[in-house]
Formats: sequence, C-alpha cells, structure tokens
Amino acid sequence: MALSRRRFLSGAAGAGLLAIGGCRPGTAVAPGSEAVRRAEAARRTGAGRTISTKLTPRVTTLDLGGPTVDTWAYGDSVPGPVLRARAGDLLRVDLVNQLPAETTVHWHGVALRNDMDGVPGMTQQAVGPNGSFRYEFTVAHPGTYFYHPHVGVQLDRGLYGVLIVDDPEDPGQYDAEWILVLDDWVDGTGRTPDQVLASLDGMHMGMGDLHGAQSRLLGGAGDVAYPYYLANGRVPSSPVTFTGSPGQRVRLRVVNAGADTAFRLALGGHRLTITHTDGFPVRRRSTDAILIGMGERVDLAITLGDGVFPLVALAEGKTGTARAVVRTSSGPAPSQQPAELNRQVLLAGQLLAATAVRLPATDPDRTLDLVLGGGMMQNRWTINGKAFPDSEPLSVEEGERVRLRIANRTMMFHPVHVHGHTFGLADGGARKDTVIVRAMDTLTVDLTADNPGQWATHCHNIYHAERGMMTALSYR
Ligand code: C2O
Ligand code: CU
Repeated sequence: MALSRRRFLSGAAGAGLLAIGGCRPGTAVAPGSEAVRRAEAARRTGAGRTISTKLTPRVTTLDLGGPTVDTWAYGDSVPGPVLRARAGDLLRVDLVNQLPAETTVHWHGVALRNDMDGVPGMTQQAVGPNGSFRYEFTVAHPGTYFYHPHVGVQLDRGLYGVLIVDDPEDPGQYDAEWILVLDDWVDGTGRTPDQVLASLDGMHMGMGDLHGAQSRLLGGAGDVAYPYYLANGRVPSSPVTFTGSPGQRVRLRVVNAGADTAFRLALGGHRLTITHTDGFPVRRRSTDAILIGMGERVDLAITLGDGVFPLVALAEGKTGTARAVVRTSSGPAPSQQPAELNRQVLLAGQLLAATAVRLPATDPDRTLDLVLGGGMMQNRWTINGKAFPDSEPLSVEEGERVRLRIANRTMMFHPVHVHGHTFGLADGGARKDTVIVRAMDTLTVDLTADNPGQWATHCHNIYHAERGMMTALSYR
C-alpha cells in the first residue's frame, strides 16, 4: 500500500486532510445547491417519496457467461442492483459492508449534499468490515447515474451499479428502456485490480501489462490490456439479448463503468440519436457510433429495425470488445462487427447542451487551471504538478461562476470528473460531470459553485486517480 493511500485513508487526523480545506468528518456541510434545496423543500411538502434500499458489498463468485471469477460485488450480480427514483425523491440506502476491507459508496454524477458523497477522508470516514452507513439524500436532477466505491481500485472489481432518476415531467416517448453497462474485467482471472496497480508501479515488471496502444480519436489509450470486456456482466461469447419489435422506439441508457477503457459503441444497421449525456439533455444528434469515456453516460434513442443486430463496444485503442445482441426477429445471432463502428464517431464532449440546460454565457468570476501531468513510466499522475493528497485544492466561493481550464500534458487521455456539480463545456457545449480530455489537448468548462463542500475532482481512470490525479474543489 502506497504512502498516499495510507495518508488518504487516515486523513481524518493527518496533514492530507488539512490540505483539502480542513473539513473534518462530522462537520455538517450540507446546505446543498439551489436545485437540491428546491428538491428538499418539495419533499418536505410531501411531493417526493422515500426510496429505501440496501447495498451489501461482499466477496462472491460470479459466472460471466462462461468464465467464473471470484470477485467483490453488490450482492451476487454484476452490475449491482438498478436503483430507481424520481427527481425530488429521497434516496435512503443502507450500506452494509461484508467485504474484508473498508469501503464507501459514491453516487457518481449526482448533485447531492456533500456529506453523502462517499469520499473517505473528504466527506466521511470509510466504512470498515462489518460496518454500515446510511446514505440519505434528495435526488434533484433526472438522469442516468451510477454508483461505486471511492476506495482504492475497488471499482475495478464488480462493485458498480446504475442509478436512474426519472423525470416525472418528461417521461419521454419510448416503447422500451434498456440499460447497457460496459466494463473492462480482470478480477479473478489470476490477478486482482490491486495487483494490476502494483504491476503498473513496477515498470520493469509491468511491461507486459502496458498496452501502449494509440487511439486516433483519443491521442492515446489506457494502460491495461484486459482479458475480458463485459456488457451487463457478460463476456462477448455469451452476450445478453435485448428483445423488441421492428419500429419500436427504445431508450438505451449506457454507462461506462470501466476502470481504464473508453468504449466505441455502435448497433449494426442502426443510427443512434444521442438525447442525453451524463443525465442532461443535449441538442439531439444522430451518429453511427459514440465514444464513451470511463464515468460518462449517454442516453440514446433508437428506432428498431427488423432482424438480429450486434450491439458492440470496441475497447478503444485496445484489442477486444464488449458485446450484446438486439433481436426483433428470429434467426442466428450475428458474429460480425457493425460497420458503423468505423463510420461517424462522436464524443459526448462534442455535443451541445439542449437550450433548457444551457449554461448562460457570462464571464467567469474565477478561472482555475488544471494541468494534468505524469506518465506511465513512473506511474505517478499529477494535477498542477502534485499528486493527491499533496495536490492543491481548487478553491472557490459559493455563488461564483468558475472556469476550469484543463490542460492535458500527457500522452494519454483522461476522463476528468467533478463531484457534486455539472459543468458546461465551452460555447454552449453539453452539461456534463465527466469529460474526456484527449492526449495533449486543452478543454475549458464552466460551472456555478452552488453546492458547498469539499468535492473530489479527478481522472476517472481509476489507476490514475489512485496514483495521484485527484484534487478537491473546495469551498472556502
Ligand atoms: Cu465515479 Cu470520484 O467518481
Ligand atoms: Cu487519467
């Protein structure tokens, strides 16, 4: 275990925590954003429901549709249970930790009260083995979200699941809704994610693990070649089948829960209409394929054709695919790749926000630089030259419009994720909480600092975050 991790976990008493603003566990930091306050007010007047459930992370054995693996999961399935609420509901989730390790649950993309954000040393104490913790928060914004631990590289086991917040005012005009969760899988195939991390640390030992491949679209690729890529917990040889009828309109919610892999997704014989990214509506665009970084979500509208079609997610810049089948008639499942994978490919970061959620154009009160540095040679990753927990917090004041200028000075892409907020990409770009910054590229995003607290801000390549590419958006 590296020094930084120990300091992170023991941060409650250590210098690491002071470096992120002196927030102590138990400190009440929960006024919430305007939208959160409105949703909480609505709930108090009886408009929202309370959704109660339990998550039990534990050691288990899973059948991935052929290979059997020993892993950690929420219950006995990967992905974990789909949690579902309506905007304005109170979500009450009891975490009961049956793992032999500390854990937490982070609600990725949700603008919630800070003390429910699930980041140990920053918003709560990690929950020890046999311990429990009640997460209780109002969900203000509809959308496709997911949940996962915020401890070490636990996300790269089977610990992830989807959270859907429905929009009571706009259910959408769909005949069906499908959920597709993409993942890169190593756990129980002879190595654990912690061993992968250790192999990345020792370059002389880890050469064989380094993929070193390039993606034309990303200017780099991930570090790790995975034995399997999964769609809804299944290997490609045993794919999940989505069944419908020709002409039906389907909403496909896609989550990339991978640790180190961006996926290029296409459905053979179909165009995809992108309706939302990271939960927020975009100006609709149709495309042949979409590239989804770790931690990103996209909602797609699809009108089903007649036949049996491959729904394939290529591990971008790597070798391998995740695979599902869409079926509206009988016949053998196709084995070929969709030609659409090599036609028009969009990144969610290239989309424009729908008018209703477009961040009003205004000059920022504050501009903060995030220079992403480091490299796989030393397996040390930095923000503004420092590795977490030594990184400088990004200090903001409530009410400010904040501009983040993210400059990637590395040869790899990084999906940058900000907790508790949704930012707008420059020039009316999409509202997002996670965005791909390509190798050697610079990207500008704006956000309104309206949700006080200490908010983790990091690369969603879980190995990069774990080796330093993390800081905090910190309210003074
Ligand atoms: Cu998906 Cu900091 O997390
Ligand atoms: Cu990264």
